[in-house]
Amino acid sequence: MTPSSARDAADALRAGRLILLPTETVYGLGADAGDAQAVAAVFEAKGRPRFNPLISHVADAVAAERIAVMDDRARALAEAFWPGPLTLVMPVRDRERVCDLARAGLDSVAVRVPGHARAREILALFDRPVVAPSANRSGRPSPTTFADAVEETGFAVGAAVDGGDCAVGVESTVVSVLDGRVSLLRPGSVTREEIEAVVGALSDDGQGHRSPGRLSVHYAPDAPVRINAIEARAGEILLGFGPIQGDPRFALSRRDNLREAAANLFRRFREADRERPTGIAVAPIPATGLGEAINDRLKRAAGFVG
Ligand code: TXA
Ligand code: MG
Repeated sequence: MTPSSARDAADALRAGRLILLPTETVYGLGADAGDAQAVAAVFEAKGRPRFNPLISHVADAVAAERIAVMDDRARALAEAFWPGPLTLVMPVRDRERVCDLARAGLDSVAVRVPGHARAREILALFDRPVVAPSANRSGRPSPTTFADAVEETGFAVGAAVDGGDCAVGVESTVVSVLDGRVSLLRPGSVTREEIEAVVGALSDDGQGHRSPGRLSVHYAPDAPVRINAIEARAGEILLGFGPIQGDPRFALSRRDNLREAAANLFRRFREADRERPTGIAVAPIPATGLGEAINDRLKRAAGFVG
C-alpha cells in the first residue's frame, strides 16, 4: 500500500473514511469521532464482537478541554505526560464531536494526546477528535509496524500513514479522573508510580471504588429491554430494523443496514428513555458482521449477560 500524507489522512477523515494512524504505542485504525457511521465501520473492520468505548485522540490539551471536563488532577496528569502514552477518562463535554457509539453510550470520554509527530500532524490538520483502537483485527496482536497495520486492516482505509516502527509498542496507560477519584484502568508504559508522583495515591484499580454506573463500561437504558420483538406492546417503544418497524423516529435502520443500526444504537436508547416508556422493544437483528456486536450489547441491556 502506498503511504499517504498527513493531509491525505485528514481529507479521508473528513470524507468519512478510515485511516491507519501511527502512534508511539501501536498503530491505530482511526475515524472521525463525531461520525457514528465511520465509528461503526471501525468496529466492522476489526470484526470486534463487542462495542467498547474508544479513545479519542486530539492534538493538544486545548483540544482535550473542548471535549472533556478536566479537573485539577486531570490537568496535572496532562501537563506531566502529554503528548505521550497516557489516556485520561473524564466526563464528556461535547457529545457531538465524540458521538455516543465512540463512548459506548457512556457519560465519560477517553482522551489521549499522542506523542508521535505524524499523529499530531494529522490531528492538527483535522482539528477534531479521532477515535482509534489498535489497528489489528479482533483477537490478533496490535500492529507496531506499518506493514503489519496494512496487513491487518489496510483493506478498510482511505489513507494509511507510515510513521515507522512504534517506539513504545504497548498500548497507552488508561487512567480515569472522575468524581475527584483517580484510578488505573489499564496498565501501560506510564507506570502507577509515575502517576502517583503527580497526583498522590490512586484509588484501587478501578474495581472496588467504582461508583456504580460512572466507570462501568456497560451502558444500559433505564427502561427494561425486550429483544427479538416483532411489535411494540402497550407502553413500549419499538426500535425497528428492516421489515419490523415501529415509530420511524426510533428506527435503528429503516432498511436493513447493520452499520446504520450500530451507529444509531446508543443514541436511540437515550432518545427512547427520555419518553419514559414502560419498556424498550428491539426488532430482531441478524447475527452476522456488525450484528454480533449489536446483539451482544442488546443481550446485556436485556439482562441476559453480566
Ligand atoms: O495506545 C493506545 O491506547 C492505542 C493507540 C492506537 O492510541 N489505542 C487503544 O485503543 O488501545 P483501544 O480501543 O484498544 O483501548 C481503549 C481502552 C479500553 O480498555 C477501553 O475499555 C478504555 O480504553 N476506555 C475507553 N473509554 C472509556 C471510558 N469512557 N470508560 C472506561 N474505559 C474506557
Ligand atoms: Mg486493542
